[in-house]
Amino acid sequence: MSMEGRTCIITGSARGIGRGIAEHLGEKGANVVINYRSSEGAAHEAVEAIEDAGGRAITAQADVSIPEEVEHMRDVCHEAFGPADVLVNNAGITADKQFTEMSRAEWDRVMDVNLGGMFNCTQTFYDDIWNAEEGRLINISSVVGKQGNFGQANYATAKSGMFGFTRTIALEFAQGGSTANCVAPGFTRTDMVESVPDHVLERIISGIPLERLAEVEDIAAVVRFLASEESSYITGEVIDVNGGMDL
Ligand code: NAI
Repeated sequence: MSMEGRTCIITGSARGIGRGIAEHLGEKGANVVINYRSSEGAAHEAVEAIEDAGGRAITAQADVSIPEEVEHMRDVCHEAFGPADVLVNNAGITADKQFTEMSRAEWDRVMDVNLGGMFNCTQTFYDDIWNAEEGRLINISSVVGKQGNFGQANYATAKSGMFGFTRTIALEFAQGGSTANCVAPGFTRTDMVESVPDHVLERIISGIPLERLAEVEDIAAVVRFLASEESSYITGEVIDVNGGMDL
């Protein structure tokens, strides 16, 4: 499953699932662009980790919710590696509140980053991926987009919105031979889950047939497959990686 010579942008990849994806792609020979919003130090550490493993990587600062910053990220990518072959829309945030307590600002912020960021990045890199040999768009959604989750009306709405977007772009890409897919992780051991109280985590784990949280590697391995040329006949799909939560 070589990624030799393929240029991959992963948004929000200084830590968590994004970093895991970046390292998995780097290990297989990809040129990796580590996007970060404010964690410059962590982004440089991610580059060093990839280089130490023999790969190639650069950092590119951009808040994905700001179109001009995303355009600048494209320039940085083009200058270092040329056009992108793979875009992974991974950057995401939560702002949890029971719906009656949720402000319009909390709703809008989650939409701006999770859906607006996906819009900005996909539009900015659309031509690159269309023109690539076996171009790939991979959107990181969530099991919460399918099932809903108490206190996450904004996040669940954004994550299920990714399904319709992915299917539509898959249809629009198809004539050019590129694909678009979603990965919907279950609860994964990262900073995002660190803030969940222990008793809530225990309840979550008791509802997972495989009886554990996902590790970053569980998600990254699936993304690496979707990013490779081996996945060329899969498009418009939502791939669940959730330990059986939907069964
Ligand atoms: P995380 O909070 O550890 O990492 C998210 C990354 O996105 C961070 O590096 C953050 O700085 C970056 N980011 C946030 N806003 C940004 C912006 N405006 N511009 C650029 N970067 C930005 O979260 P984690 O767990 O690694 O999540 C990654 C993706 O996976 C997210 O889309 C999340 O919704 C999704 N996911 C996570 C699950 C989990 O249980 N951890 C489960 C299902 C989906």
